Amino acid sequence: MANDTQVVSRIEKPVIVALDFSDARAASALVEKLDPALCRVKVGKELFTRIGPDFVRELISQKFDVFLDLKYHDIPNTVAGAVAAAAELGVWMVNVHASGGRAMLEAARKALPQNGDTLLIAVTVLTSMGEEDLREINIPVSPDEQVKTLARLSADCGIDGVVCSARETAVLHQEIGDDFILVTPGIRPAGDSLDDQKRVMTPAEAIKSGSNYLVIGRPVTQAQDPTAKLRMIMDEINGNN
Ligand code: C5P
Repeated sequence: MANDTQVVSRIEKPVIVALDFSDARAASALVEKLDPALCRVKVGKELFTRIGPDFVRELISQKFDVFLDLKYHDIPNTVAGAVAAAAELGVWMVNVHASGGRAMLEAARKALPQNGDTLLIAVTVLTSMGEEDLREINIPVSPDEQVKTLARLSADCGIDGVVCSARETAVLHQEIGDDFILVTPGIRPAGDSLDDQKRVMTPAEAIKSGSNYLVIGRPVTQAQDPTAKLRMIMDEINGNN
């Protein structure tokens, strides 16, 4: 793995703010306080289902890089169409479930221009699932093993990277290579409330251990001053405090 300095310097804007809001007004009020030069944003299923593509277009017109976190999982033709539609919308990153299998992953990859602007990321095992949950659906391996299997399959199908926990980054970079993009949620600046996250890492720890992008929601969205909080997070990552 590259040394810490190289990892930190690789991506200038590693923080993706999760816009986990249920209505346009609250989402827009937060976005007004964010600077697209400091962070990227993530739009998930709830916000997208409520306020749709127009909101995504609005974010893009404000120069935000948008991660459309809709985790597509369907037959190859349908996923290919959805991924192509996301790229047409102009999103920076879109994701699919790796458990959709090789044909689905390859169809998703083919639906995007190879050197285009939209990154294609896969979800491996949902962090809400443990060993018992996997056994119940007839997957008799540990979540860690399954994450590795699905990450390798994704890389093999030309997917740009995976969403994973910061604890998995070192082994995934080792197995697949430093160019494979690792996007990690479960990030909490030291001293912040954990909310419902159980195993967390600080932004600096996560970057040091090999995360390329950090998905951070409430520590920023609930902050009195979200921009100040983002600056603090970036300073921590860059070792300036
Ligand atoms: O507020 P918080 O920082 O906990 O938000 C984390 C974001 O990352 C949420 O949008 C959540 O859905 C997402 N996420 C996660 N854990 C995963 C995958 C996604 O927390 N394994």
